[in-house]
Amino acid sequence: VILSPQHPLSAGLTSDSRLVRAYRGERADATPVWFMRQAGRSLPEYRDLRVGTRMLDACLDPAMASEITLQPVRRHRVDAGIFFSDIVVPLKLVGVDVEIQPGRGPVFGRAYADAAGVAELTAIDPARLDEASAPITEAVARTVAELNTTDNGSGTPTPLIGFAGAPFTLAAYLTEGGPSKDHLAARTLMHADPGAWRALMDWTAELTGRFLRTQVLAGASAAQLFDSWAGAISLADYETHVAPASAAALAHVHDLAYETADASGGADAAPTTRSVPVVHFGVGTGELLGAMHGIGVDTVGVDYRIPLDVAAARVGEGVPLQGNLDPALLAAPWPVLEAAVRDVLRRGQAAPAHVFNLGHGVPPETDPTVLTRVVELVHGASA
Ligand code: CP3
Repeated sequence: VILSPQHPLSAGLTSDSRLVRAYRGERADATPVWFMRQAGRSLPEYRDLRVGTRMLDACLDPAMASEITLQPVRRHRVDAGIFFSDIVVPLKLVGVDVEIQPGRGPVFGRAYADAAGVAELTAIDPARLDEASAPITEAVARTVAELNTTDNGSGTPTPLIGFAGAPFTLAAYLTEGGPSKDHLAARTLMHADPGAWRALMDWTAELTGRFLRTQVLAGASAAQLFDSWAGAISLADYETHVAPASAAALAHVHDLAYETADASGGADAAPTTRSVPVVHFGVGTGELLGAMHGIGVDTVGVDYRIPLDVAAARVGEGVPLQGNLDPALLAAPWPVLEAAVRDVLRRGQAAPAHVFNLGHGVPPETDPTVLTRVVELVHGASA
């Protein structure tokens, strides 16, 4: 499926942005940089806007979600916006009882830890999400409309990254009924009742895949699958019980493509068809990186526990990497932070292309002026 001519990738607005070029393995004039959780509590303008509005209500208010997405782009001049939403939004949209408790995370009305629970959940048709997705489509469209007309100094409009939670990470919350440290309920169900586990993963893959597709169709220029908690399982369990569902989720965006004029230039040269870039990230997934790349993604996101040059050797040649400054360093004295940023950039040279990011999300107590300074350092150091 070729994206519409108005899509920022098809229109040529973001197809040669630093971010999209890096995701296809090319180095640009400067290393692109964005931060996981760049939108959120580290920004006073976010805290002001959110007063009196619950998290999931904010996600489903197109004007508010769009404004929150744009705040860090304007402030830090990062090379990407990441859509302000949450991995549980598609569950909420099909009627699952879930809320996000501040300081805690997603909490469900019940746990879906056994075959009966899974049967109740999977009785909901994931296709219903498409009818409920108007607030997502509208929020993305508004965001992209502003990004397309704003100059952040990079020479192209800033691309928007769409995202979704991977089936395992969603299942970790669903089986537990809320956040947990060890994800024991999910790890138990996959062995205790592999049939129920598969049904849960298949259903979640379709729901989260549709959520991701909606964002790309509405104007996102890249897609990131967050398997935040996949680091809790072994490589063998990952390959048997998790990877197929993540691949199924991504199948919902793999057929989306855009056409660009052939780089070699002639007016009558045939256009090149490229698929929308896909990134895959998890926390503590050093042992899984090869398998996480193997499900068919362009770029692998790396957390802060392994250096990028080691990660590059694990994923194999030719794979762009994203990451991986330890977020704790954001609160260290500037000379310490600066040295750490430069070290990440140096090790990132081991990959064909590198998108600078943190090894996980921005801590809420981060001084936002430090983030702006990191962006300036990354752009300046690599220019
Ligand atoms: O800027 C961005 O990165 C975009 C927005 C984004 C949010 N959630 C907003 C949010 C993204 C990409 C997510 C994904 C998400 N949500 C993940 C995967 C990424 C990761 O961090 O590993 C996970 C595991 C969740 C589940 C979730 N939602 C958690 C653990 C929390 C934190 C709870 C807390 O208060 O500490 C949330 C809530 C949430 N999602 C917030 C934001 C900005 C905080 C809500 C607030 O401001 O009160």
